[in-house]
Amino acid sequence: MDDADGRGEAINTACSDQVTMMVRIVNGVVEDARFQTQGCAAAIAAAGATTLLVMGKTVEEALNIDVDQVVEYLEGLPEAKIGCSVIAPLALQRAIGDWKSRQSG
Ligand code: FES
Repeated sequence: MDDADGRGEAINTACSDQVTMMVRIVNGVVEDARFQTQGCAAAIAAAGATTLLVMGKTVEEALNIDVDQVVEYLEGLPEAKIGCSVIAPLALQRAIGDWKSRQSG
């Protein structure tokens, strides 16, 4: 996403896989969200689910998206893969934080 308003990264320390989330925010609403990831299928699925969950949400709602919502959206993940899905909502929170920091600057 060339015109991202916020960008955030998170790394799974267990395997060093990474997710980057990018958001475009208009009038406090997430108009678009994209991701890049170097990770397993669960990490990719979680990142995709996170982008679908966040679009159309207010910034405050976006900050409340957590791993439980992501796993529910995916209709479950194997227990061993839950850790892989944590990094997507974390990267999203960091992308929102990046957007916020750009607003105050
Ligand atoms: Fe690294 Fe799943 S094995 S994120």
